Amino acid sequence: MSIATSVQDGNGGSSTTTNNLALIASHSHISGLGLDDHLQPKESSQGMVGQLKARRGLGVILKMIQQGKIAGRAILIAGPPSTGKTALAMGLSQNLGNDVPFTAITASEIYSKELSKTESLTQSFRKSIGIRIKEETEVIEGEVVEIQIDRSLTGGHKQGKITIRTTDMETIYELGNKMIDELSKEKIIAGDVISIDKANGKITKLGRSYTRARDYDAMGSNTKFVSCPEGELQVRKEVLHTVSLHEIDVINSRQQGFLALFSGDTGEIRSEVRDQINLKVAEWKEEGKAEIIPGVLFIDEVHMLDIECFSFINRLLEDEFSPIVIMATNRGISKTRGTNYKSPHGLPLDLLDRSIIIQTENYNEEEIKKILNIRCNEEEVEINSDALNLLTKIGVETSLRYASNLISVSYLISKKRRSEIIEIEDIKRSYLLFLDSSRSVAFLQENESNYIDDDGKVVFGKNTIISVGENDKMDTDP
Ligand SMILES: Nc1ncnc2c1ncn2[C@@H]1O[C@H](COP(=O)(O)OP(=O)(O)O)[C@@H](O)[C@H]1O
Ligand SMILES: [Mg+2]
Repeated sequence: MSIATSVQDGNGGSSTTTNNLALIASHSHISGLGLDDHLQPKESSQGMVGQLKARRGLGVILKMIQQGKIAGRAILIAGPPSTGKTALAMGLSQNLGNDVPFTAITASEIYSKELSKTESLTQSFRKSIGIRIKEETEVIEGEVVEIQIDRSLTGGHKQGKITIRTTDMETIYELGNKMIDELSKEKIIAGDVISIDKANGKITKLGRSYTRARDYDAMGSNTKFVSCPEGELQVRKEVLHTVSLHEIDVINSRQQGFLALFSGDTGEIRSEVRDQINLKVAEWKEEGKAEIIPGVLFIDEVHMLDIECFSFINRLLEDEFSPIVIMATNRGISKTRGTNYKSPHGLPLDLLDRSIIIQTENYNEEEIKKILNIRCNEEEVEINSDALNLLTKIGVETSLRYASNLISVSYLISKKRRSEIIEIEDIKRSYLLFLDSSRSVAFLQENESNYIDDDGKVVFGKNTIISVGENDKMDTDP
């Protein structure tokens, strides 16, 4: 079997940006873990504030990932809600750069109707493993001296010639229809330095030749100048592209084909296909044609997984190709789904045992203020200092996330009174308009009877108790 690989290169990390827009939006101010050259966290950098211990820990993990040292390990970020667990993972992904695949999922995504839980986990794992493939291709590289195109009268068939030179030689090549189309698509003109891939005829414009720099005065400011190549016109070049193991799976599974990559509708992939691909990739690795890059799979809210998923993850971690798995949870001692026993963080003990645990802690007032201020800048809203102080106080007493959600609401309220800046009144109003969780609980306890309870009982008006039973029978008590 010959294995086709995808033609897109270097987009290992793209799955985060395309699939999880909502997950990213509230973390859009974060551009990294905010570490210095010695991987020590700075107090406030790259949008990250405080949480120093966790960031220091992740800095070490980052280093190990970059050195390719820790495939098949699990890391658990554990801590109370709103302490930046997801934010830390997003920061790590940005520090990893584009070449290391990073996949982010929320545990509940596993329960989709189209894929089984195990298939869906397997796909996520394989999306997080990059294969860097080296290929040698022959290219023609030089400066265009002249392009000459003859159009036949009927317009259908095109013919032409292109003259390309290096500092040492000059050659004329015949052009067919396809190449002429490529040239006009890339807007190639005399004086451009181009590279033509001999295998597929793809033309890349490398820039304009210095010798032609003074020919045109109407050139854009972003024109890149390069020098005319030396030596032979035809050269062998090594090109590198990184694809994920999952992409190779999809392209090679007969029912799917590469179009599935664009529609995202990949369905289940047969295990024989995967076995063959594993073999082939191992072979490439032996021959030095490919390098395996273990990336990161981030599973947020991991307590939503059940015992079957956990044991399957255990197995996948032992696979010969395995990424680093980072999980996040806000659970303490709690039940693992699908079992009756309790364990720390709701994780089965065998998985817990192989995990490194990174703890996040609640923020102090000053840190909350800094984060809220960063969020205001990020959302491009202005807030005066009194309002920010009140918002911080709300953040301390309720949660960082609630306070951060009030920013956009308060902004709308301030707009309504034609102000460009959020003032203390706007914060007060939005605080009264929208409940935080503890006030919501208090409200529910007070008005419990007005809501439908677990037995389907609810009170309407004064004395009517309606019970919505199994058969939706309604009976009214006097
Ligand atoms: N240390 C931090 N620095 C900057 N922003 C943070 C930090 N921690 C949390 N945030 C922001 O606060 C909000 C809540 O954090 P989040 O990561 O969603 O918490 P968790 O996942 O622990 O529940 C998000 O908007 C997040 O980007
Ligand atoms: Mg989270």
